[in-house]
Parts: sequence; structure tokens; C-alpha cells
Amino acid sequence: MNITVLVGSQWGDEGKGKIVDILSDRYDIVVRYQGGANAGHTVQIGDKQYILHLIPSGILRENVQCVIGNGVVIDPKALLEEIKFLEDHGISSKGRLFISQNAHLIMPYHKLLDSISESGNSKIGTTGRGIGPCYIDKYARKGIRIVDLLDRKVLEEKIKANIEEKNTILKKVYNQKELDVEEIIKEYIEFDKIIDQYVVDVPTYMQSAFADEKSILLEGAQGTMLDVDFGTYPYVTSSNPTAGGACTGTGIPPTRITSVYGIVKAYTTRVGLGPFPTELTGEEGNKLRELGSEFGATTGRPRRCGWFDAFLVNYSRMINGIERAAITKLDVLSYLDEIKVCVGYEINGKKLKSYPNNVNLLQQVSPIYETLPGWKVDISSIKYYDELPTQTKDYLSFISQQAGFEISIISVGPRRNQTIEL
Ligand code: GDP
Ligand code: IMO
Ligand code: MG
Repeated sequence: MNITVLVGSQWGDEGKGKIVDILSDRYDIVVRYQGGANAGHTVQIGDKQYILHLIPSGILRENVQCVIGNGVVIDPKALLEEIKFLEDHGISSKGRLFISQNAHLIMPYHKLLDSISESGNSKIGTTGRGIGPCYIDKYARKGIRIVDLLDRKVLEEKIKANIEEKNTILKKVYNQKELDVEEIIKEYIEFDKIIDQYVVDVPTYMQSAFADEKSILLEGAQGTMLDVDFGTYPYVTSSNPTAGGACTGTGIPPTRITSVYGIVKAYTTRVGLGPFPTELTGEEGNKLRELGSEFGATTGRPRRCGWFDAFLVNYSRMINGIERAAITKLDVLSYLDEIKVCVGYEINGKKLKSYPNNVNLLQQVSPIYETLPGWKVDISSIKYYDELPTQTKDYLSFISQQAGFEISIISVGPRRNQTIEL
């Protein structure tokens, strides 16, 4: 049996969507296990671009079933828009999309509280999708789940209790307008009518998938350095994108996972605030952003760009247990005369032994770089590893050796056919 967890190994936007799409032609089921519509996973097929936020990227392959696990927080509006967007492109989710009854719902007050919090002094640079406030309610045991939609009385009671509390906060703490309970109840009842057909008990669904020996790909959102436990806290998201999250976010037992696959961008990007040791500012950063089209798939925000950080990716390999990886956006580096790779950090001339995910330390580190020669030719139409320039192969073997994993896919452009498999 093949049950693979696919994780972002940096700060998100590594190209997970593209690689899930490539791999999903050899999987029966693709599952999202955490995050929500803060994710933006791009798949480009020919001239068509699909940006998926909640539905697994496997939906674009008609023989693949897609599951949204309990670890995901679902914004009804975003989900319905996505189902409709796919339908408009001739892709039906009916009978192929299965949603966990235990997944939590993003409510209008979550988005409001997210944006209020971002306008204060403790900014994170969130996507504004209500992610943090929804996970707060989940862990405070006040959340509203998909299963609550199935019983009108329970739903109304829960929405009323939550809104009563949130209205007090909105009015007394933030001096904001109160929310209308009836309007929100009506909106979620309408959502229930459409969503009912997709709801399942995911652990039961998975048991029968195991019995039928189905292969499963677990699609992580965000990335290791945005993990609430292992990332650059507090500049993180509110879930566990790392491999462990794949079990708690789906009910798949850890003993069933057969491998962990890392998605690794050939350089580094980050959206939002927080430390970024290898960041390139000024002209150098602007050029990389422009040539890599580094603008957020969800919010359109410019992404911060910098050199490949092998010290960070090695940490990511360790946390996730990555054995194999796909290197993406290698084509973007083709303009450079020389390429730097960070192989460690130092503080006051002292080399750090292990990765400091404490932000106070991270703000003080200086990266230690090795400089490699660039290849200066367009590699975006190369189909076989042997045809890559020697300098490109050297760059790949250097990062693979520094990060400690094998590279099994090299992506040289956004399209399906711009992929080299080893
Ligand atoms: P995800 O969140 O990890 O799925 O990544 P995003 O979709 O947010 O960002 C990746 C961007 O890079 C998308 O616009 C992809 O179409 C694009 N992309 C993916 N792989 C490659 C590649 O190998 N080369 C280039 N030039 N673009 C790529
Ligand atoms: P994908 O799946 C990149 C970042 C935000 C912010 C922090 C917290 O496309 O790789 P949140 O809205 O989650 O509370 O924001 O996390 N962030 C992402 N950055 N890619 C993503 O998803 C992200 N999802 C959240 O920019 O810094
Ligand atoms: Mg993205």
C-alpha cells in the first residue's frame, strides 16, 4: 500500500499544487489534512490555470477521489465558489469529493476578528481568511463543525451562543458593529442544503480505502516553517502542516503512512511577517520576485524572496522525515551568474549546531553561504536529467546533499510537461 504525505518544506508556495497534480495520476485518493482557504495551490494544465484553496489538487484528475479531512477549517463561501469554479470548467465534484463531518466551519466573525487583530500592534501578516480565530474556537471547544449543520436546532443554538459572545467582544473591546444572528443562521442553513451530499465519516471511509488497498496522497498546505509548533512562532499559521498533522487531520493511523515527500523550491520565499535569514532585499529581491512571478495565489501579495536555505530545509527534512523531494522552479534561477546556498547560520562568529526556530535568535543570525556557478541557459523545455547543464546538476546535487534527501522530481516550469522525473 502506498500512503504518502506531501509537505511544503519552507514557508509555503513551494509548488505543492503542481506536484500533487503530477503525482495524483498514480494515486486513488488525495486528501487535504489542515489549513483552509489561506492556501492557494496552483495547477496549470495547458493554458488553463486552476488555483485551489480548499479542494485537494487531485480533483483535476477525473479518476481521483478527494477528501477534506477533519483538520481543515472550511469557509462555506470559499468552498461553494470553488465547487462552482470547477463546475464552470467542466469538473464535477459530485460523487468525488468527501468532506469530514468533524471539520470546523469558518464563521463570519472569524474573518472579522482576523482582520481586527491584523490592524492592531501584533501583526502576523495573515491571509485574512479567519484561520487563526477558527482554530482558537476549535481548541476552546466552542467551534461549529460540519456535523452541526445536520441538526438545525443544534446549529441555531451554537451559532446563537457564539454570536452572543463575539458580539460582546466586538462591541466592548473593538467598538464594532454587532453581527446579525438570524442572517448568519440563514446563510449556514443554505450552505447545509448544498453540502450535505458531500459529508462523510472520514475514518470509516479510510478503513474501506485500506481494505481495497487504495493508494492515498495527503496534500499538506502551507509549509514546515509556518507550522504552529515547529515553525517561526508566532509568525506561523495556526495548524500543523508538518507530516504529523496528516494523521491528526484525517484519522489515518501513523502506522499506515508509507513515505513522506518534500516539496522544495529552488530558492526561498515567504509571505507575511517574520524572520527570513536569506532574504534578498532591493533590486536583487525584486528581480527574483519578478522572474519567479512571486505574488500570492490567494491574496496577490508580493512574496519576499531569497537564496536557498539548506540549513532550514535540512531542519524540515528532520521534522517531517522527508526521504524524497521534488525541486520546483529551478528554471527561475537561470538568469544568475552565481547562486548562493545557505549552509548554516552564525551568531557573533559562532556557528549554530541546530536550527533555531526561536524568532529572537533567528533575527540575529547571519547565513553562511557557499557560492555555486550559474548555468545561464533556458532549461524550461528540458525533459531529461542528462540534458541539464553540468552547473544545474551540480546545484541539484549540492542542495540534495546539504538537505539530506534524494531528489526524484525536478520542475522546470508551471506546466505538467515541464517536469523531469528521475
Ligand atoms: P503551492 O501553494 O505550494 O501550491 O504553490 P503556489 O501555487 O502558491 O505557487 C507556486 C507558483 O509557481 C504557481 O504559480 C505555479 O504555477 C508556479 N510553478 C510551480 N512549479 C513551477 C516551476 O517549476 N517553474 C515555474 N517557473 N513556476 C512554477
Ligand atoms: P500555501 O498552501 C504561504 C502565511 C501568511 C502569514 C501566516 C499566517 O499556498 O502554501 P494565516 O492566514 O494562515 O493565519 O496566516 O501564514 N500563509 C501562507 N504563506 N503559503 C500559504 O499557503 C500560506 N498560508 C498562510 O502569509 O504569514
Ligand atoms: Mg500557495
